Amino acid sequence: PAGAGKSTIARLVARELGYIYVDTGAMYRAVTLCMIRAGLKADQEDAVGDLAEKLEIQLRTGTDGQIVLADGRDVTREIRTTEVAQLVPAVAKIERVRRLMVVKQRTMAAEGGVVMDGRDIGSKVLPDAEVKIFLTASLEERARRRYEELKQADADVTYERVLRDLAERDEIDRTRKVSPLVVAEDAYVLDTSDLTIPEVVEIIVARCRKAMEQGAVR
Ligand code: DC
Repeated sequence: PAGAGKSTIARLVARELGYIYVDTGAMYRAVTLCMIRAGLKADQEDAVGDLAEKLEIQLRTGTDGQIVLADGRDVTREIRTTEVAQLVPAVAKIERVRRLMVVKQRTMAAEGGVVMDGRDIGSKVLPDAEVKIFLTASLEERARRRYEELKQADADVTYERVLRDLAERDEIDRTRKVSPLVVAEDAYVLDTSDLTIPEVVEIIVARCRKAMEQGAVR
């Protein structure tokens, strides 16, 4: 769910294993940014689908984390603006956009050696992934973490407000028609409410190494 720490943890696990980190949220963000630039709105589904089909998205590992390229241009920073964040859920709901992203994600994972982060990876994109982790934490703890993060940039933010927003997002995620948030049957559910970041990374890396020892990983 939102605020469980997916990207932080996935990035660190990838670094520890020497794998490539694939942030699938960044791909939906890149489509959204290009949609805005093209003067399109998310309800123009056919046009946004055409744009997504033509768009070349590349994820590269840079010294400071992942670099996102859209048609060869570096959009790493711009995909993190509030404008993109507000519009991306509507774009991520377009079925044709999802189908296109899933194809790209499967291609990226085909060679192995990737840690892929996203809410539908274990359940839909890579049903045969060798290790699946469903990262979660209590609503209160996720709100606390998000609040700590936000209050540095915004003095007006309150914990209650963050808690309410997250509860709303949980509900939308669980009940949405396209790719609702579900736990893959064979995923390991890891509740991080009472764990530190290094502890979570250690648990996941240990599971990966065990899978490698057992020959489950190519
Ligand atoms: O994790 P994030 O905030 O960067 O995700 C951006 C948006 O994309 C968010 O609305 C969730 C959506 N998303 C998705 O639907 N499926 C994914 N695999 C990754 C992200």
